[in-house]
Amino acid sequence: MENEWDTAAEEYSQLVGESGDVWRRMLNNPAILREVSGLSKSSKVLDLGCGEGYLSRLLSQYNWELVGVDNSQTLLDEAKRKQSPGDFILADITQPLLLGDDFDVVITNMVLMSVPDIEPVYRNVYNCLKKDGKFIVVIIHPAFRRPIAEFAKTIIDKVFRREPFMKIVNNYMVVAKYSRRIMQCVNATRTWHRPMSVYIQKAIDCGFKLIKIDEIAPSVSDLNKWHQPKFLAKYPNLLFMVFTKNE
Ligand SMILES: C[S@@+](CC[C@H](N)C(=O)[O-])C[C@H]1O[C@@H](n2cnc3c(N)ncnc32)[C@H](O)[C@@H]1O
Repeated sequence: MENEWDTAAEEYSQLVGESGDVWRRMLNNPAILREVSGLSKSSKVLDLGCGEGYLSRLLSQYNWELVGVDNSQTLLDEAKRKQSPGDFILADITQPLLLGDDFDVVITNMVLMSVPDIEPVYRNVYNCLKKDGKFIVVIIHPAFRRPIAEFAKTIIDKVFRREPFMKIVNNYMVVAKYSRRIMQCVNATRTWHRPMSVYIQKAIDCGFKLIKIDEIAPSVSDLNKWHQPKFLAKYPNLLFMVFTKNE
């Protein structure tokens, strides 16, 4: 059955390109690569909510065993079309997954804000990870919004891409559901807002230990390089967390 990510798939795949959009290349990719680069050759890496597979293309240099899971068949077809390495499985990550229990790393990159309930995802991750395995979570920083990003690539955007349009999220403490455009994507997908503490406490309740938390803002030099407004260096764009399973 087609879902909203199937509808958005073609546009989304174009946006992500070969190795990620501007923001992934500037922020997500270096942070993820720093975290995983020390893994041994025989490692197993699971990418939950893998989309069109760019992360497996990024990680292909390491010869790890890569598995991607997504519930959009269209995005998984895109992953294959783009010759992304690894196994790709069509499944809902909020339902119990039977993928074994020997992954060294599980990554959810820009995914948890797309699911209505993060607890079943956390349980799946916990069951898939081996002892001392790492769970890497990357989400859009929940405290800040850049509503004007929805007008990206338009004249309005060029005129208004300035600081007043960076907002602290209204009703930050309230878990909320809304539709929003992802950068210049026309097909809006649903996003769930949760305060940072909800992401962390639910992981702790599930048995994880938080070992790293980073609020990642772009550097001025990167913003210049990618022709983005400099004021964005003042705001964290991503929340990057690493949990371990210690039992
Ligand atoms: C913002 S995209 C991120 C994709 C990819 N990780 C990336 O960084 O390009 C969110 C992804 O989560 C997937 N997704 C959302 N809910 C899901 C669910 N319940 N089960 C499996 N995948 C899901 C979507 O299909 C989409 O590919």
